[in-house]
Amino acid sequence: MNRIHQELDTLARFSSSEFPSVTRVLYTQEDLDARDYFIGLCEEIGLKVRVDAIGNTYARWEGTAPELAAVGTGSHIDAIPLSGQYDGTVGVFGGLEAIRYLKSLDYKPKRSIELVLFTAEEPTRFAIGCLGSRMMSGQLTPEQALKLKDKEGGFFNDIREAAGFNGDLNDVKLFEDYYHAFIELHIEQGPRLEKDNLDIGIVDKIAAPSTLIVKLIGEGGHAGAVLMPIRKDAGVAGAEIMMAVERIAKDSKSEDTVATTGIFDILPRAVNSIPKEAYLEIDLRDTNIETRDKALADLKHEIAEICEKRHIKYSIELLNCDPPATCDENLVHTAEKAAKGLGYSTKVMTSHAYHDSLFMAQMFPTTMIFIPSKDGVSHRPDEYSSPEEIDKGVQTLALTLKEVAS
Ligand code: GLV
Ligand code: MN
Ligand code: MN
Repeated sequence: MNRIHQELDTLARFSSSEFPSVTRVLYTQEDLDARDYFIGLCEEIGLKVRVDAIGNTYARWEGTAPELAAVGTGSHIDAIPLSGQYDGTVGVFGGLEAIRYLKSLDYKPKRSIELVLFTAEEPTRFAIGCLGSRMMSGQLTPEQALKLKDKEGGFFNDIREAAGFNGDLNDVKLFEDYYHAFIELHIEQGPRLEKDNLDIGIVDKIAAPSTLIVKLIGEGGHAGAVLMPIRKDAGVAGAEIMMAVERIAKDSKSEDTVATTGIFDILPRAVNSIPKEAYLEIDLRDTNIETRDKALADLKHEIAEICEKRHIKYSIELLNCDPPATCDENLVHTAEKAAKGLGYSTKVMTSHAYHDSLFMAQMFPTTMIFIPSKDGVSHRPDEYSSPEEIDKGVQTLALTLKEVAS
């Protein structure tokens, strides 16, 4: 087993669910312990570590011309409930391994190379994805962040302070020329590289995500005594909305429209009680912004119709509705050349999943390096990329960083 695989295995134990599943939610003890583990490894090789007000962690290898904009790489280590051990983590620990490799060559970069651990790419705790990179790019302002609440009703600010992050939220946003370029290594999370028997994917586009929160209020009551004609069942309205979510995505003109009701809760959750309330979180994305926005509009329209028909009160919150990202052509070319130079087979591809690079790309020339995911599986405990596949990703990243930072 190579070093990074061992480190990923150790990291996977910082989890609130049993191995091999991984659950690592923002600002929990597991998240904090995993961050400490990462910081320790960075300091071991002499990187200068800085942690911002929300826990975005920067580990800098100073270049010979530190006044120049740095080259960034990195990803996230938070993990959604009952997921796997490679999503995000390969980009963080792979970035570290790439720096170690470059250091072993006695190479010294001209531009500083900075490894970033982004806070909460996953939307688990505050429903919004890419929290860290969203704030770095100014797409989530401190005022908006202060309004975020978790499922238990705790405010973002109280929770981050309790986790030990006390700095000024205004300092999270990066200035315009902070990075000369940003390159994120990540698992593909889909089947295309494996299917085509390719080593490396270079990302030229990232699909546009959006998230809707739908709250329904009907009328509760006795499951035996309230007869069917007079019911206002919020649970059934939610179920109908869930069906509409699937249908709208399937009927879209774009084959890249995908929509998922990943959270659907009802209250009071008693077998002999009519659901009075329902809560849905809906994820809707597309590579094409027109068809994504059309699907969103159709869905809002259907929710209104369903609720009207069933006499249900409802609210819809569009939590985020992001544009797709276009990667930097030159950087895509540089990464592709690096992979090919190492003898790896490559393809330029779109990322259907979102990543912190979605927000980095709004500010800096950005691309991503993908490695294959076994059976295209991700967000599941059986997510897997082999040591050899990870190594090829690390080598490609190292060579790209070297090229861009020299
Ligand atoms: C990232 O985890 C995504 O949901 O695309
Ligand atoms: Mn993920
Ligand atoms: Mn990820």
